[in-house]
Amino acid sequence: MKVREAVAGDAEAIAKVSVDCWKTTYKGIVPTTYLKNMSYAKRYKKWKKQILIEDVQTYVGQKENGEVVGFCDGGPVRKENLHETFELYAIYILEKAQGQGIGKSLLYQLVSDMTDRGYKHMIVWVLEKNDYRRFYEKLKGRLYGKDEITLEGERLPMVAYTFSDLSALRKNLL
Ligand SMILES: CC(C)(COP(=O)(O)OP(=O)(O)OC[C@H]1O[C@@H](n2cnc3c(N)ncnc32)[C@H](O)[C@@H]1OP(=O)(O)O)[C@@H](O)C(=O)NCCC(=O)NCCS
Repeated sequence: MKVREAVAGDAEAIAKVSVDCWKTTYKGIVPTTYLKNMSYAKRYKKWKKQILIEDVQTYVGQKENGEVVGFCDGGPVRKENLHETFELYAIYILEKAQGQGIGKSLLYQLVSDMTDRGYKHMIVWVLEKNDYRRFYEKLKGRLYGKDEITLEGERLPMVAYTFSDLSALRKNLL
């Protein structure tokens, strides 16, 4: 397994991981119609642009046979006005590849990169009903606040975790 920075040519693979993960992770949480309407093509369009944004760093986890099984990305905080903080926008590992340390390795690379860019803290938003939020709790994330998003007219509560010390977070990711 290799973790490396994403390049433009990874957009298709990332789009596929993203759609497949949404469907397995958010079944029963996100409205079925929304999940059904997700497509590789639409996500590809988004990722093709996103990978090229200079402020946004994207990493992929790739198996020896070349298959991309996970990714994460982060950049400037989208909503709050938080000093020296970057936001983890997304981290998704295909179900079949979960629990093998890939999530931690990806996040380690992103946090290291963001530390080098001068960031001191991290925030991440996660759907309240998503059990995988325990990943952030294990890493000692502190509950920061609540919000919600509306998908297909359904309001979905979200919670944010903050990590005030990136070097401590990096140690927990080793
Ligand atoms: C959450 C996710 C990124 C973690 O990546 P991963 O490669 O599966 O996790 P790792 O193997 O690196 O394990 C990291 C640690 O988190 C723990 N963990 C992961 N998911 C967990 C869960 N659902 N409940 C409890 N602990 C969990 C692991 O037990 C492990 O702990 P350890 O280091 O003490 O053994 C991955 O499982 C995933 O993509 N989940 C679905 C998508 C998702 O919910 N993403 C986050 C949305 S914001």
